[in-house]
Amino acid sequence: MHDLSAERPLIPAPGAPEQPRCAWRGLMVDSSRTFWPVDVMRELLDLMGRYRFNRLHWHLTDDAGWRFDVPEHPRLVEIGSRLDREPFHWYSNTDPEKRAEAIAAAPSDSTVGWYTDAQIAELIDIAAQRGIEIMPEIDLPGHMGAAIRAYPELGDPSLADLPAAEWPHRNDLLWPSERSARLVRTVVDRVCRLFPFDTVHIGGDECDYAVWEADSALMGRMAAQGLRDGRAIQGWFTDIARDQLRRNHRRAAAWDELVETPVRGDELIFAWRDGQGVRATQASGNDWVYADASRLYLNRLSGPAESEPAGMRPGFGVRSVLDDVDLPEDGALQGIQAAVWTEFIPDRRTLHYHLFPRLLAVAEIAWSGAGVTSWEEFEPRLRSEVAWLESQGVLPRPWDECTEYGQSRTADVPAAVLDGC
Ligand code: ACM
Repeated sequence: MHDLSAERPLIPAPGAPEQPRCAWRGLMVDSSRTFWPVDVMRELLDLMGRYRFNRLHWHLTDDAGWRFDVPEHPRLVEIGSRLDREPFHWYSNTDPEKRAEAIAAAPSDSTVGWYTDAQIAELIDIAAQRGIEIMPEIDLPGHMGAAIRAYPELGDPSLADLPAAEWPHRNDLLWPSERSARLVRTVVDRVCRLFPFDTVHIGGDECDYAVWEADSALMGRMAAQGLRDGRAIQGWFTDIARDQLRRNHRRAAAWDELVETPVRGDELIFAWRDGQGVRATQASGNDWVYADASRLYLNRLSGPAESEPAGMRPGFGVRSVLDDVDLPEDGALQGIQAAVWTEFIPDRRTLHYHLFPRLLAVAEIAWSGAGVTSWEEFEPRLRSEVAWLESQGVLPRPWDECTEYGQSRTADVPAAVLDGC
């Protein structure tokens, strides 16, 4: 293990204010789509601590994998932690050839594994030593594909007896039933036993309501309880999860779609949908964290698609993070969070390539505020930190003109540079 605290970091600046601008300085790591070994997670916590991040949002369940044991539901890990990497051919925001290349090159065991209770406890302990709390995420009621592979009766009943390869549509939505409700309560209790942090993220993103709404028997049953559409059904699941969290003295966090469903106002919301998510979240009055996908999703490209590893379009460089992130003045805003989704990031090397150096601009903003640090003042510090990272075997994306310019920065960037980035 590297000694990452040997030298004094230059980000945030040594002369930065004592008190950070953002109380919540987060990074979301997707351990579902790629199972990150404990060593990689330890190293990330070390790096987060160096740059004064204080929250790891740990995405532990999704369609691609379930990453912790729930003894009452053993198939969650027996089956849900051993799924093949999906082809993701339905993604329209990633170059198809790069996508296929990344899937073909991914190590075959990179989607296989789950964290034991002892490993989770060890990571919580390491995090605490670095001033970091770990917020686990159980993504529900959508993105439940791994759990449904393990227990098909939790998903669309019309698909329960079909092999997954024959499902005519994605089967990632929990179906409202006493069985699903029991699973949610058990999983919430389990996560609260494993993780001491006061907030648990319950997902809530990207539920395709049309799938529930196409089941007339289901809609008839739900209407009898006064629940007339998909939003209301999502609210039914949220109530179950949030009530169970409350029994465990925890608060619910969720992605910003939640504020468009019945909420109570005490949920912590992560505004990720560019513009729209921030507007809806601010209108809700809930506490929230700025997690905008346009500049804080670090799995986006950071250069021309042809010469980069697979990444989401459009991309941006580190300068674009520093210059373009704008934290609204809002008393309900708790902070900022970057994210790295790992469909196409199957190994440590590629993870570091996407995270660095862009994560360092997020760290600067999280501590000092948005629009405070000029690129001219930041660049030499950033270059020193990049050299330091390299000396530790953590290899950032190589520096070039795309480092400075983002694809969507159009105002003051010469066309020739933009074309190349
Ligand atoms: C998300 O990117 N679906 C939160």
